[in-house]
Amino acid sequence: MRDKVKILITNQKGGVGKSTISANLTGFLAIEKNHKVSLIDFDKQGTSSVLISKNPHSNIQAYKAGLSYQQNSNYTMLEARAALRRYGAHAEITIADLTWTFGLPYDFMLDFDIVIVPSSNSKVEIASTEIFILEYVQRQMLKIKQNGQIILVAPSRVDRNQISEIKFRGLDFLDNCFICPPIYRISQINNEILNDFWFRIDNGIISENMYEFGNFVHEYILEGKKKKSEAPMTLQSKPPLSSVPLIRSQAQDSQIGFLKQGESMVASQEQKEFSFIPPFLRKK
Ligand SMILES: Nc1ncnc2c1ncn2[C@@H]1O[C@H](COP(=O)(O)OP(=O)(O)O)[C@@H](O)[C@H]1O
Ligand SMILES: [Mg+2]
Repeated sequence: MRDKVKILITNQKGGVGKSTISANLTGFLAIEKNHKVSLIDFDKQGTSSVLISKNPHSNIQAYKAGLSYQQNSNYTMLEARAALRRYGAHAEITIADLTWTFGLPYDFMLDFDIVIVPSSNSKVEIASTEIFILEYVQRQMLKIKQNGQIILVAPSRVDRNQISEIKFRGLDFLDNCFICPPIYRISQINNEILNDFWFRIDNGIISENMYEFGNFVHEYILEGKKKKSEAPMTLQSKPPLSSVPLIRSQAQDSQIGFLKQGESMVASQEQKEFSFIPPFLRKK
């Protein structure tokens, strides 16, 4: 199938919500949006694949694909790419959950249509997330532009009274980078929350929040898909993708659950060059 969408959920930091978001986005896209979704859990802890294994569904396949990081970085990338090819083979959407390390070349990040970077709302973490994204963009800007890759920052574990404080100013000038609706901090994580997909649990605030986040990402998935199959120009006349403020100037594979084994960015005039948002996402 030509129209495959690959999503990487990554950050250099642990504990920012990568696995929680990976698993919940997988559930939302597979069950609510009826896509065939493959989750590849590249992290050794296997957090995201555990949640999936507790909620089997015919549209979901989840795989653990721990990377060895033992040889050189290119070897690690080959491992990761092999897992991506193999486990994403039959999926419409592949979601990879990965803690980024410099044991991986940035080329691997370029393999994805959408990169989602979860980040808390603390000043330190916002700065570290901005640096992470800017270093990648600085080194790979031409290829990112060619590929039409989208970067989505996912504010995670955000207190609801702090939503207005979410600002990733250092990314403002990146036309391919957008801020997702924040995922709220849940003060009491009980078994229900740990064991089921958040979009369908019996808590209006949490489920609605996950709907908002999932729908936001889904719009990018659909637009990207349409673009790949050369969508009609009418797409461009659609309104902006979300009411949420968007950033733009303004393998040790193993069996899990029900599944078988197997398978200093410088601000200057040059920044105008960064207008690499694909036409289908541009404001009129
Ligand atoms: N929205 C949230 N509210 C409260 N706790 C959260 C939220 N998202 C994740 N957590 C908790 O934070 C911890 C780290 O989350 P996790 O998704 O495993 O991060 P990562 O994969 O980046 O290491 C886990 O214990 C998880 O249950
Ligand atoms: Mg994790």
